[in-house]
Amino acid sequence: MPLSRRALLFAGLGAALAPRARADGPTVEGYNAVVLADPGELDVEIPTSRIEGRVPAALVGSTWLLNGPARTRVGDWTMHPFDGHGFVRRLRFTEGGGATLRARFVRTPAFEAEAARGEPVYLGLGSLVAPPTRAGARINRAAPAPRNVANTTIYQWGDRLLAGWEGGWPFALDLDTLETLGPADLGALREGEALLAHTHLDVARGRLVGLSPVLGAQTAITLREWDADGRVVLQRTDAIPGAMMLHDFAVTPRYVALTRNPLRPRIGAFIRALRGRAPLLAALEAADEAPGELLLIPRRVGAPVLRLPLDRPTFTIHYANAFEDADGRVVIDLCAFPTIGFGHEFGYQGPDLPLDPVLAGGPAQALVRLVADPVTGAVTRTDFPYPGGVDFPRVHPAREAAEHRRVYAAVRDQPGASFPFDAVAAFDVTDPARPPQVFRPGGAPDTFVGEPLFAPDPGATEPDRGHLLVPVYRPGATTLLVIDPARLAQGPVAAIPMPSTPYGFHGGWMPA
Ligand SMILES: [Fe+2]
Repeated sequence: MPLSRRALLFAGLGAALAPRARADGPTVEGYNAVVLADPGELDVEIPTSRIEGRVPAALVGSTWLLNGPARTRVGDWTMHPFDGHGFVRRLRFTEGGGATLRARFVRTPAFEAEAARGEPVYLGLGSLVAPPTRAGARINRAAPAPRNVANTTIYQWGDRLLAGWEGGWPFALDLDTLETLGPADLGALREGEALLAHTHLDVARGRLVGLSPVLGAQTAITLREWDADGRVVLQRTDAIPGAMMLHDFAVTPRYVALTRNPLRPRIGAFIRALRGRAPLLAALEAADEAPGELLLIPRRVGAPVLRLPLDRPTFTIHYANAFEDADGRVVIDLCAFPTIGFGHEFGYQGPDLPLDPVLAGGPAQALVRLVADPVTGAVTRTDFPYPGGVDFPRVHPAREAAEHRRVYAAVRDQPGASFPFDAVAAFDVTDPARPPQVFRPGGAPDTFVGEPLFAPDPGATEPDRGHLLVPVYRPGATTLLVIDPARLAQGPVAAIPMPSTPYGFHGGWMPA
């Protein structure tokens, strides 16, 4: 098959302008092989004979889930990985110690149109893509929008799975077949309204908590809560001065907590984006000269939002958990960046260049505990030291909105670098002076670690009895590691081989 002009351009520019990997960091080829892996939909039996070690009996019948961007190369065009199509992986631990893997694309209108056309059709968040005009130019303004690719989160709510994305409604999937059922309004979302991909459960009250932001000169945030029957039991909307970036938040019995991540437009790029000639993401920058601020949104109507000053700029993408202590103070564990950049996430350089793993690793994020007194407004900050970035923080699933002892996270061992992650760590948040337990899988430099999930043992009385489920990606193969967190540094008790699937974002675990 003859190569297209764009493919030749890709190869030529790739050779001429290839990013230079750090001597001790990932290779460009290995990193691109992992992020851009495209195995298609999968149904795979994984017999015990192929599993290293032994799957713990406690996991049998339970399910590991993961969503993330896939088919990130559309035609001969590399999309920003944020714009890759949702690709849901589900691994079930079967009787006898084996597993079954199913992987399906979330069949959004954007996926269906691009699968049919073989080229980008929908407007990207971080990619400059659009169908060619008659003159051959690609101008974002001409593309259908928004590009809801449902690629960020996957969680069970009621009798279905929801695949979340940042700028629109989640997509519902059949719990068993993973067939896409369509966009879900959850009985409340308005046409064109977004629901943040990250939602949280208030486990004690059986409530789903979600935020819907509208960005502008001020940021309107609608907080909604759904009860176990799917009824909206709380809805309030607040206007916060200034533009801000929202992605995640934390929940306590009385509050939704999040740091204000102030943004401003980069004027030149913003004008180009409005004219369809630059991606939206590249038109934003962090307003990191502004002081940090913690927002506490009361989980009831009437009470005002509390805006508490922080001692330094604090940009948060992901929250581990939050709770209230015996004195009514709000305790929040989060991964804080000093600042954030936009447009080059995952090392994205444009449609014709490979992803650059060095460009992907900006200023590192740290695991941080904020303790906020809603009465006095005082906030103290404690950092949990680690040389590189700490992110994808998770806790015991039954501890959401309640006190937790450990935070599990993916970490980057290289000092100062935020990404890509190459190890998994467990932090004891009751003792900041205690170094975390760390396990770094072999296969450096092209071994990448995804979000660790904690799967508690059924019926366990000790709070942290269970196993960590950690995806590990290498060129040509993905492995799900099963790790005893009490012996984290000793490595996995089981390693489950899977076909190579692209680096994922967020997952979940469902008990048997
Ligand atoms: Fe996220």
